[in-house]
Amino acid sequence: MTDATTLDLQPTLTWSDDLVLNMDKMDQTHREFVDLLASTETAPDDKLIDSFIELIAHTEEHFSGENQWMQDVDFGPGGCHADEHEMILKVMREALRRGQVDGNLPLVRQLTGEIGVWFDGHAKSMDAVLAMYLKEVQYDPVTRIVHKPQERPEGAAPPECGVPLDETQAS
Ligand SMILES: [Fe+2]
Ligand SMILES: [Fe+2]
Repeated sequence: MTDATTLDLQPTLTWSDDLVLNMDKMDQTHREFVDLLASTETAPDDKLIDSFIELIAHTEEHFSGENQWMQDVDFGPGGCHADEHEMILKVMREALRRGQVDGNLPLVRQLTGEIGVWFDGHAKSMDAVLAMYLKEVQYDPVTRIVHKPQERPEGAAPPECGVPLDETQAS
């Protein structure tokens, strides 16, 4: 029998120092996200949907916060970063629908594990590049003031999504 109880489940992703991006607001949100993701993935069946709904609400805030920052600082590759957020939310909402309408709880649980794998990569690429840029332009997420705005050189292509900024372009 593979009658696993939730006590046997281990979350795919747990918080670790290599997820720290040294931007307090982002790190705090990411930590909450990883904790919510883990508690959803290991939730008993009767708590799974409620936990997933909470996770989606948190994710909506998490992503819209980053999208706002990208707009505030006129972040070059913001479009593709925001597109990835939207794609993940779309998949989550569809999984919720199938969990609620079809009672497909294994799908919801499996997706939370896959999101753990996705997030590990997203945080270390797109979010890492964003955090670095926000620090470079001295953006304050509380006041939303950009203290050291940067002009992109005329004609220069915006940096690619998830690819660290070319140091040689920095003046
Ligand atoms: Fe993020
Ligand atoms: Fe992000």
